[in-house]
Amino acid sequence: MRIILVGPPGAGKGTQAEKIVAKYGVAHISTGDILRANVKAGTELGRKAKSFMDAGALVPDDVIVGMMRGRLAEDDCRKGFILDGFPRTVPQAEALASLLAELGITLDGVILLDVDDETVVKRLCGRRMCKKCGRIYHVVFNPSSKGDHCDSCGGDLYQRDDDREAVIRQRLAVYHDQTAPLVDYYGKAGFLLRVDAAETGDKVLSRIEAMLERRA
Ligand code: AP5
Ligand code: ZN
Repeated sequence: MRIILVGPPGAGKGTQAEKIVAKYGVAHISTGDILRANVKAGTELGRKAKSFMDAGALVPDDVIVGMMRGRLAEDDCRKGFILDGFPRTVPQAEALASLLAELGITLDGVILLDVDDETVVKRLCGRRMCKKCGRIYHVVFNPSSKGDHCDSCGGDLYQRDDDREAVIRQRLAVYHDQTAPLVDYYGKAGFLLRVDAAETGDKVLSRIEAMLERRA
């Protein structure tokens, strides 16, 4: 399985990727997670990315494409992957097409998780993440049974710096301006599968699986 998850911030890309990875054992490649790990570790990449991320802007394409070139060539990608948060602009999609051609890999599909802006704001204002394992929670829609600690590993839960309402609205504006054109880009190429992501997480997963089976 080699798929891309596209959708606005808070559409549930990370949540669905966790479920698909647990079931199918493919690699989960989240550009947001890679960037946050670099910010935390204080690497040069993290220093370059931080101000863009804090402002709800996109990190420049050349930085992201350079990072993904190395990641897609790693061994765990051979058994399949889910791209979560990449590509996010048409130039990134064009760069990905060249990278995949170099590696001799073809895509199975691009899944658009479609959800309205107000649902996004509700989801992101209540999101909590595990500091230790990265698992995603929501204070109302998907709470941890251990309160402020992770169900899986006991790690502390925290709120992302960019999950404040003003930054969320900026991220949404950037999505509509720079990422939404990918819907047309992949639609024209016959790759796009649209899923209503306002449903519960389990229903969204069943829809994704049904679509992938129909395509297989
Ligand atoms: P990134 O980390 O990719 O953030 P994002 O795209 O804004 O997406 P999110 O992680 O916010 O949302 P999600 O769709 O994964 O939703 P989740 O499953 O967590 O990027 C962060 C930043 O890094 C960017 O702003 C940019 O600066 C930079 N960056 C990253 N990639 C880049 C790239 N390619 N190019 C340039 N810059 C890049 O769910 C959200 C919440 O909703 C959770 O609380 C969850 O529990 C809940 N939830 C999920 N599904 C449901 C459901 N069905 N019902 C109810 N609640 C749900
Ligand atoms: Zn955890």
